[in-house]
Amino acid sequence: MRQTILLLLLPLLYLSSCQSADEPSNEPLRLSSPDGQAELQFLLTANGSAAYRLIYQDEVLIDTSTLGMDLQDAPKLQQGLEIVSSDERSVSDTWEMPWGEQRSVANNYRELAVALQETPNPKRSFRMVFRLYDDGLGFRYEFPEQEGIAEFVIAEELTQFQLTGDHESWWIPGDWDIYEHLYNETRVSEIDAISKRDHPNLAQTTIPNNAVNTPVTMRTASGLHLSFHEADLTDYAGMTLGVDTSSLLLSSTLVGSDRLGYKVKRMLPFHTPWRTIQFSENAAGLIDSKLIVNLNEPNQLGDLSWFKPTKYVGIWWEMHLGKSSWDMASGKHGATTENAKRYIDFAAANNIGAVLVEGWNTGWEHWIGFEDREGVFDFVTPYEDYDLEEVVRYAKEKGVEIIMHHETSAAPRTYEAQLDTAYRLMDRLGIHAVKTGYVGKIIPAGEYHHGQWMVNHYRKVLEKAAEHQVAVNAHEPIKATGIRRTFPNAVSREGLRGQEFNAWSVEGGNPPSHLPTVAFTRMLAGPIDFTPGIFKIKLQPYKEESQVNTTLAQQLALYVVIYSPVQMAADLIEHYKGQPAFQFIRDVAVDWEQSKVLNGEVGDYVTIARQERGSDNWFLGSITDENPRQLEAALGFLPEGQTYHARIYRDADAAHWDNNPTAITIEDYRVDSGTTLQLKLAAGGGAAVSLMPVEGEAAEKLAPYPN
Ligand code: NOJ
Ligand code: CA
Repeated sequence: MRQTILLLLLPLLYLSSCQSADEPSNEPLRLSSPDGQAELQFLLTANGSAAYRLIYQDEVLIDTSTLGMDLQDAPKLQQGLEIVSSDERSVSDTWEMPWGEQRSVANNYRELAVALQETPNPKRSFRMVFRLYDDGLGFRYEFPEQEGIAEFVIAEELTQFQLTGDHESWWIPGDWDIYEHLYNETRVSEIDAISKRDHPNLAQTTIPNNAVNTPVTMRTASGLHLSFHEADLTDYAGMTLGVDTSSLLLSSTLVGSDRLGYKVKRMLPFHTPWRTIQFSENAAGLIDSKLIVNLNEPNQLGDLSWFKPTKYVGIWWEMHLGKSSWDMASGKHGATTENAKRYIDFAAANNIGAVLVEGWNTGWEHWIGFEDREGVFDFVTPYEDYDLEEVVRYAKEKGVEIIMHHETSAAPRTYEAQLDTAYRLMDRLGIHAVKTGYVGKIIPAGEYHHGQWMVNHYRKVLEKAAEHQVAVNAHEPIKATGIRRTFPNAVSREGLRGQEFNAWSVEGGNPPSHLPTVAFTRMLAGPIDFTPGIFKIKLQPYKEESQVNTTLAQQLALYVVIYSPVQMAADLIEHYKGQPAFQFIRDVAVDWEQSKVLNGEVGDYVTIARQERGSDNWFLGSITDENPRQLEAALGFLPEGQTYHARIYRDADAAHWDNNPTAITIEDYRVDSGTTLQLKLAAGGGAAVSLMPVEGEAAEKLAPYPN
């Protein structure tokens, strides 16, 4: 113990004279996690490359992996390094999420910062900073100001992750443009991203390497779970992970720019995003982990009371079904004043706070399939059958918010030129949320959605939106990397194969294993605008061949399982008529005091319970893949001694995602913290449970849960 304290207090000085560039460094520097279960080792290899290892409970998770930068017009920064000094410190604090899966977040880590310098000329220096948490590791490069170097032009980042086994892995291809791929479950040695190139459903896709996008999740032979991602992606290119299927080496492969000819350009000083490795004994622990947000800077926006987490409905699914369209020329324009009012009335009557209206502004006639989409949308001019002012006035009268829609058609320069005008209009109308979209190949040609230039665009939009008190829900976004901590107006995003694929995918939509995989992969990055709540599972008469590949009960469970502070009730509102199951959507909360992952296996099933923020209500959701299963959910998280009214929305006994998806049974019981629910999930099914405190006679009337 005394030793530990000494270590904490004394910055350690490592004298470079002890080492020659040809010999391996002797003892690595060691950093242990607060709970002592994980260890990070930093060392220099024989040729003086900086390297690290990660060990968890005596299992080497990441074996010696080197670090470095391939620079354009300058020698590689990779070898011939010496350790100048190293510092260690411990941090233990908590911070509060303005909205989120939980109110309070513990931020406990130990940090090792190693200052390095090249021994030969040009003697450049940098620091590697490692933060080791009980649930993961983050590390980044920090480049200080130094003489004679104004900027770094990065051709490639040379960060390695040397796996120690041929892990089972859940991955999507390292696409520079889109994350809307199905997850693949293979061994690392079988990852073949290139084979995913020909994709019939995507308006843009670029997969240059055998690489995967992050988060990518893995399970080791001993049952440990790992997930690789990045945190605080700021003024830098998104990172994919190149996969060497024979050596099981993952290497950072940054998204590039054919237009600019480099991957990243930065003035010194700067630091890279954090490279992150989450680890957990079980799959559930990955979801519990707050590593990604913890590695971001604190809230820069201050008071966020203008944004209220909300459920919403909207003029949206009807376009994806083909019932109406975004453009007016088709003769079946969806965004009419009258239709918007219909949705507003529905929202007001059903405890739904907001209405999204897509296709409200002119330009949609020149949207998909047009090469030159620059200047197509102006974000202020409504179609003539849409009276924007009147819709907003009517919504206000009914106590409903309007969500603005900006489809940029992947022409960010047009959007940037109009940001001020667009947000001023929203200011004037009192609109505090926008859904943005980036469908198509980025204009100018040679840029990709996930490159540095676009990363900076997405950030500029967030900053500009924040100035106008606007919350952003981006589709075709840059991936979530925890920026919501710093800019809590980054409320949600797509960045996965959403519900829309079920309406128009030529491959049959999202299979039942999709969401039980998403919960342990994409969802580790941050909130998801998946748009659940489709009640009419078979999509006739609009789409004869298409359907949603889950049961109705699973659609309810998604409000709890797939986290977002904005949750759509996505179906046509007429489909909710006379549906007792809609009560769950009326009731379910969208902002949480705390969340508990009760069970789960990647790609198979997951059960999550969440406590509504500022209330004693709890909601529970459980989903399964194509396999029916019986799961237990112990309600030990309820306050002891308090009786609860559990309303259970479950798959009827004969339910099945394909043959009988809408068969649902709703049951009411009296439960308490001693109750264990037996959840019977159908193939592709789910269960949703609302738990509300109940007293006296009302409690007596409920049947006790048959334990
Ligand atoms: C793609 C988005 O994901 C979808 O939600 C939206 O309706 C269309 N783009 C049109 O902007
Ligand atoms: Ca999309």
